[in-house]
Amino acid sequence: MEFTIRAATLEDCKDISRMILELAEYEKVSDQVKIAQRDLEQDGFSKNPFFHGIIAEVPEHLKSKEGHTKVGYSLYFYTYSSWKGRAVYMEDLYVMPEFRGKCIGKALMSKVSQLGLAAGCTQLNFTVLDWNKSSLDFYLKQGCWDVTSDLGYHCMRCEGDALEHLAQGDL
Ligand SMILES: CC(C)(COP(=O)(O)OP(=O)(O)OC[C@H]1O[C@@H](n2cnc3c(N)ncnc32)[C@H](O)[C@@H]1OP(=O)(O)O)[C@@H](O)C(=O)NCCC(=O)NCCS
Repeated sequence: MEFTIRAATLEDCKDISRMILELAEYEKVSDQVKIAQRDLEQDGFSKNPFFHGIIAEVPEHLKSKEGHTKVGYSLYFYTYSSWKGRAVYMEDLYVMPEFRGKCIGKALMSKVSQLGLAAGCTQLNFTVLDWNKSSLDFYLKQGCWDVTSDLGYHCMRCEGDALEHLAQGDL
């Protein structure tokens, strides 16, 4: 299928916001999405962006049933490993259902990898839900491995009141 992969721009934030919700619905966590188009515009396209994005786009004649030409995206940012140095973290990878199985997901992930390597990174990190077998299989097929099952790492988080308390030092 004809498609292009390119860097996301400010004008893509509306579609990124839409696809973030679609991905969250797929992952059954749409109630967790607190981010709107405006947050994306501020956080991704101001002087010191917190994330970068890439977009998969199809030509007008291949647009989706609802009329979308932006049909997939990935958000990523740079992190640092005290063991391995520069790393790239892929926060989201998503292709709209009617465009899956056409190598768009692979092309998006390949682009994030290219950008990471060009920036001197030696690792691409990301998480996947344990029940998301089809995506897990997709990632394994791309040569990725499961850090949790192989090394026993767990993703940890502190947020809300716990984060406030932690910051105030009164836990
Ligand atoms: C995961 C996802 C991004 C893959 O994108 P896609 O465009 O459908 O995948 P592609 O067509 O690029 O597949 C690339 C390769 O992976 C293979 N593949 C795709 N899905 C697969 C699966 N479920 N199991 C095994 N292999 C799979 C394809 O056969 C293809 O192999 P090839 O290179 O030998 O031809 C897409 O299915 C998606 O958006 N899923 C829902 C959202 C999601 O789960 N995102 C990840 C959150 S962690």
